[in-house]
Amino acid sequence: MKRSLLFFVLLLPLLYLLISVQSANDPIKYIFTCTGISSLIILILSLSLTPLKKIINLIKYRRMMGLFSFFYALLHFLNFYILDAQFDVTFVLKETLDKPFIYLGMIAFSILLFMAITSTRKLFAKFNKWHKLVYIVLILVVIHEAMAQKVLGNLEFMFIFMTIVLLGYRAFLFRVKWLKKKK
Ligand code: HEM
Repeated sequence: MKRSLLFFVLLLPLLYLLISVQSANDPIKYIFTCTGISSLIILILSLSLTPLKKIINLIKYRRMMGLFSFFYALLHFLNFYILDAQFDVTFVLKETLDKPFIYLGMIAFSILLFMAITSTRKLFAKFNKWHKLVYIVLILVVIHEAMAQKVLGNLEFMFIFMTIVLLGYRAFLFRVKWLKKKK
């Protein structure tokens, strides 16, 4: 697949959001949903490239997908800071301290920001071990998403299932590596 095609595909959620936001009853909530779900799905797809490698190697696209996941998380954060909080830092701090799901989101976002900054070739060579923190981001965001709902639905169970599969595969790789080292 061409990189430009993937770039265009990853921009589709933003185009969809721009077209449909005018007709939303509650635009702020709608932007939270579109940007949050897009970021989480792209994050899960980017992490799925590791187990998929056995069938088809698409690892070279992981960086672009990771950056797009961060891009949608950034729009999600800006929606909170600009439209919801209207630049009121006291409100941001109060919400973050009062609502556990918001501070989970803040921690996840800070890690994603760190990963985006250190994703250049030079910095990645130095910080690549730290990029394993992306699995912590996945756990935090799946909890954050579930806590933002009043009732858990199929989507939440699918996110939880994918998280268990991806973490299970990571644990399996870790064990194989450990056994090889022991020999
Ligand atoms: C920067 C820190 C974050 C803040 C302040 C924040 C804030 C929020 C808020 C207020 C909601 C509830 C919206 C509503 O239903 O009224 C929400 C939901 C959500 N957030 Fe975040 N979030 C943050 C980080 C993240 C990150 C990093 C991701 C993804 C990688 C994410 C994904 C989601 C998802 C998927 C939902 C559920 C959307 C829905 O079903 O309506 N959030 N977030």
